[in-house]
Amino acid sequence: MNEFKKLPVLLDGDPGHDDAIAWMLAKASPLLDIRGITSVAGNQTIEKTTYNARRVAALLGIDAPIAMGRPGPLLSDPITAGNIHGQTGLDGPRLPEPAGELSPLGAVELMAKVLRESEEPVTIVSTGPQTNVAALLLAHPELKEKIARISLMGGGIATGNWTPAAEFNILVDPEAAQTVFQCGRPVIMAGLDVTLKALIFPEDFERIRSVGNQVAHVVAEWLEFFYIFHREIGYAGAPLHDPCAVAALIAPQLFESQELNVQVETAGEYCRGATICDNRGYGESIPNARCLTGVDREGFVDLLVEAVRRYDGWEAAV
Ligand code: RIB
Ligand code: CA
Repeated sequence: MNEFKKLPVLLDGDPGHDDAIAWMLAKASPLLDIRGITSVAGNQTIEKTTYNARRVAALLGIDAPIAMGRPGPLLSDPITAGNIHGQTGLDGPRLPEPAGELSPLGAVELMAKVLRESEEPVTIVSTGPQTNVAALLLAHPELKEKIARISLMGGGIATGNWTPAAEFNILVDPEAAQTVFQCGRPVIMAGLDVTLKALIFPEDFERIRSVGNQVAHVVAEWLEFFYIFHREIGYAGAPLHDPCAVAALIAPQLFESQELNVQVETAGEYCRGATICDNRGYGESIPNARCLTGVDREGFVDLLVEAVRRYDGWEAAV
């Protein structure tokens, strides 16, 4: 009988409300085996995203090593998003204190260790700027084949959010993003084209809250926080960006996609951080990413509800 093998994953993010929900989805899935967590500077400073990563792991009962990422982007100055995620980077419900020690390794070295020690290639789920992933590729080219794929939230075929041209994760570190898109390993891009369709409304987070366990309550609170902010700036609902990068792995049937050639603009006064997505398919336009373009929103919400339900019987000390 073929023993079902879980997909080994590394989670790299800047929690961040939607990063935290993406990690909830990953931990709840019977298809994934979380081998390590690495924090990256993005939504808040590296110190805050690292503290948040450790608290989210404690809330979810993720028993995997956690390492701190680089203090900022490869070349440019940090950009943070306190206006969206709050001064802590994860404002809202009380969370547990970290459960274990932070790894003595830095993010790149923890990622390299996990890749080196894994029998099979490992999937990297990147839900923040791609700083650590790019640094891993640059520092350890000998491990590139041990990366099965990179499923990232970032970019946009036809739009930006932090600027008209650029999505936040890409804009924070365009050089890192370009390194990742050109690395030659399979890339799934969950860009704004799909995440702006993965909208969450009050009836959705009330469905999650009604599941009734501790994780359901916290996730509903995070969603409500995210919803209120996005309504104030004119969105119809809360765009659930980062969970799309996990859902693409565990429920690919929910998504539509296009194979495109993606280049990242690293210069430009108005377009730095833009993902230039080319569907011509000839000449230099060789596809290097599967770009998600559509999602079954109802099915996506059902996935979140089923995921929080899997935390019945689990309670973290807050
Ligand atoms: O543009 C959305 C992305 O920026 C998400 O990853 C969110 O967490 C922020 O990092
Ligand atoms: Ca994020």
